[in-house]
Amino acid sequence: MIGIIGAIPEEINAIIEEMQISETRIIGKRKYYIGKLENKDCVVVFSRIGKVAATITTTTLIQEFKIAKLIFTGVAGGINPNVKVGDIVLATSLSQHDFDAFPLYPKNEIPLINKKYFKTDSGLNQITSTEITSFLENKTIHSYISENDLNEFGIQTPVLHQGLIVSGDQFIYQPEQVSKILTDFPEALCAEMEGAAVAQVCHEYHIPFTVIRTISDNANESATLDFNKFIEQISNRYGLWIVKHILQN
Ligand code: ADE
Repeated sequence: MIGIIGAIPEEINAIIEEMQISETRIIGKRKYYIGKLENKDCVVVFSRIGKVAATITTTTLIQEFKIAKLIFTGVAGGINPNVKVGDIVLATSLSQHDFDAFPLYPKNEIPLINKKYFKTDSGLNQITSTEITSFLENKTIHSYISENDLNEFGIQTPVLHQGLIVSGDQFIYQPEQVSKILTDFPEALCAEMEGAAVAQVCHEYHIPFTVIRTISDNANESATLDFNKFIEQISNRYGLWIVKHILQN
């Protein structure tokens, strides 16, 4: 069984619509959709926003559904200047940018497991990056998202980036927030609100996982508008496009 999480309905509804659903279960006020997608057994859920919500959901997927691996898909705010709206970021590692138990423990390190970074699964990443690279080259995005929508968002040729994603319980939209994150994590590509929590749970339970984010905004003064427009119009299609290609493998 493969677990698939997005934070909000707009990140996973298209996946749920495309699934052959055999059962739904409500656990901890979340609805889990169980069925097949691309002939693979999957359980799909939206966690709601933030690290606690993502932690509860990930733990439930592991404990109740005995998932063998997990894919997190959703949107993020680009904080590296090369990361543009419509680009895709595959996390090779994740960290909690708002975790700080200094001076008891080093800044951003999770105490008692002594880790600042959690790595995603290299096997899953290999499949994901090969698939995403090939479908970006083949421009299959056009069969999922209309030319009009792509133009409206100024998306020409989406680029795949791989590297560090940072998470925190904050929506990032101010230069001070971005510069604080980049001071602590100069290599960070984008910021979101769940991935590093999912990563910590998967690390503790030895579950291979990957986190793939589409850039909805540039974490700046127009981030709120850009985010809302992106999730309303196209994040669902991006999520479906990405997850289907990964599962085809
Ligand atoms: N998810 C999408 N955009 C984001 C932003 N700017 N900050 C945090 N999480 C996000």
